[in-house]
Amino acid sequence: MLTEVTAVRYVTPLREGGSLPGVVEAADSDGVNATYVMKFTGAGQGRKTLVAEVICGELARRLGLRMPRLVQILLDPVIGLGEPDQEVQELLKSSGGLNLGMDFLSGALGFDPLAYGVDPAEAGRVVWFDALINNVDRSWRNPNLLLWQGDLWLIDHGASMIWHHNWRTAGTAAAKPYDASDHVLAPFGPDVASAAAELAPLVTEELLTEVTAQVPDAWLVDEPGFEDPDDVRRAYVAALLPRAKTIHDRIALGEPRPKGATK
Ligand SMILES: Nc1ncnc2c1ncn2[C@@H]1O[C@H](COP(=O)(O)OP(=O)(O)O)[C@@H](O)[C@H]1O
Ligand SMILES: [Mg+2]
Repeated sequence: MLTEVTAVRYVTPLREGGSLPGVVEAADSDGVNATYVMKFTGAGQGRKTLVAEVICGELARRLGLRMPRLVQILLDPVIGLGEPDQEVQELLKSSGGLNLGMDFLSGALGFDPLAYGVDPAEAGRVVWFDALINNVDRSWRNPNLLLWQGDLWLIDHGASMIWHHNWRTAGTAAAKPYDASDHVLAPFGPDVASAAAELAPLVTEELLTEVTAQVPDAWLVDEPGFEDPDDVRRAYVAALLPRAKTIHDRIALGEPRPKGATK
């Protein structure tokens, strides 16, 4: 289970992306405060975004990719009462209880492909991982990569695993190829074959079961067509397990594009 912390102060909204995450201060069970990025259950994107964040984020970390630690944040909406921004106020009001949090990487910069080089091995690992989870949100327009203390960190996996939006066709959707032609790391010559050889054997049923167990029941209950949260967890495992074995053969990197080209 993800560590549970309790929000004590809303600091500021993060407006770069679409979902308006907030920076919050929260206390752990020893009363120690730290700063987190909070993704709200009341956000328009819905709870499946949070499920994807947990499964993909926890999987990334176990595969050795850099990904900030995830936590569960308990929110009492009362902490937002003084918040002047109407949109933020609404979000806080509709997100009482359990939310998703992530360690805030203080001083991190958004990844700029023109200013920072990525070696083919690391680019390959990220592209292969994104292909596995079918992440459509790592483009040059919207990299969702941070540079922190000289290293590349992955964030924002809410728009992956598109198959969980229609479980009836999930088997077919999860068997589809991955178009990486728009991927922000495509111009860095990603060595996808080496990444697959290294990472695919690690994606076992056991690992995926451990990862899906991190998702709080509250975000899996009452999923139409499933008996209980564990039943839904098994469906995620069933989609990812075969994909890990074969996806490297079905990654389209497109025409080599000069680094930083905008089209
Ligand atoms: N852990 C983090 N540490 C520091 N900044 C972050 C972190 N997570 C997100 N951010 C910043 O907040 C922005 C929005 O977060 P993101 O997870 O991409 O949400 P979304 O795109 O759904 O709004 C990011 O582009 C980044 O600038
Ligand atoms: Mg984003």
